[in-house]
Amino acid sequence: MTRNDTDDLVRTAQADFAAAATPAELENAKARYLGKAGRLTDLLKGLATLGADEKKTRGAQINAAKQAIEAALNERRQELADAELERQLKAQALDVTLPGRRRGSGGLHPVSRTMERIEAIFASMGFDVADGPEIETDWFNFTALNTPPDHPARSMHDTFYVEGGHLLRTHSSPMQVRYARAHARKYEGLAHMPEIRVIAPGRTYRVDSDATHSPMFHQCEGLWIGENVSFKDLKAVFTDFCRRFFESDALQLRFRPSFFPFTEPSAEIDVAFASGPLKGQWLEIAGSGQVHPNVVRNFGLDPERYIGFAFGMGPDRLTMLRYGVNDLRLFFDGDLRFLRQFQ
Ligand code: PHE
Repeated sequence: MTRNDTDDLVRTAQADFAAAATPAELENAKARYLGKAGRLTDLLKGLATLGADEKKTRGAQINAAKQAIEAALNERRQELADAELERQLKAQALDVTLPGRRRGSGGLHPVSRTMERIEAIFASMGFDVADGPEIETDWFNFTALNTPPDHPARSMHDTFYVEGGHLLRTHSSPMQVRYARAHARKYEGLAHMPEIRVIAPGRTYRVDSDATHSPMFHQCEGLWIGENVSFKDLKAVFTDFCRRFFESDALQLRFRPSFFPFTEPSAEIDVAFASGPLKGQWLEIAGSGQVHPNVVRNFGLDPERYIGFAFGMGPDRLTMLRYGVNDLRLFFDGDLRFLRQFQ
């Protein structure tokens, strides 16, 4: 063997390595030169037959070839590793020009905002805020409210009946009875009972559906019972509430005679704004009246001693008026384009 044969070997190895397209192919190529049965190993074995001087030069020659082959191998390994990294980076390409995905911040539903305003205003006037069941008994929803089973007013409250004599409450008025009874029981036998002053906001249900009626809607009940509570107190409280809710002291109220089985006398409450697109129009926002003696009796109280008023208003309608929304169904469609306008 001459110097040329080791140079040739190095060149073939370099070509072989360059042709290897994957790390596995490269390792196979490596074995052909540097492995136990590889071509370089063969050359080294050949040294045994040489004399001392020859062995020295030949050995140095083979060693140089080995180093060259190893260098070529490492270089190719690095190339393949770089190519693999490049491929992976391309596959996971990050497009920094894409707009970011924002985390939605959420917000209160317009009707929830109204509920919170109602609660805050009445709380500031000394009213408690109570919560009660949406699945009611017939007794609390109707009978206790002076509306016996054959009463014609029941047909105006067509609702969803649940098995076992229960129904989805048609108004928040059953909360008058629930709250007042608990209050009366708490002070039973005592000489003095604090006045009942409460509002009860929540969901109510009727078989009704158009632009201004939804089968599920909201009501907020109010009740004030004491030994000397009159219609003028209702007028003062409700006027104060409306002016604060709509932020207008110029707003006017009208108590229009009406009928409810559980109040006597009864009145619808209308408001008229002093400005804006609805200026001067009377808009109905609540039912009200002096609590009927039969209902006071069902509270567990003596109607000869206790008297007061109740009202029931529609927070959905208040929200429509406050924000100028003309279709009630928008509140319950869940369309973000609508809801986002209130954030
Ligand atoms: N509950 C009545 C309704 O739903 C409203 C109301 C409440 C009227 C309290 C008088 C007193 O229409």
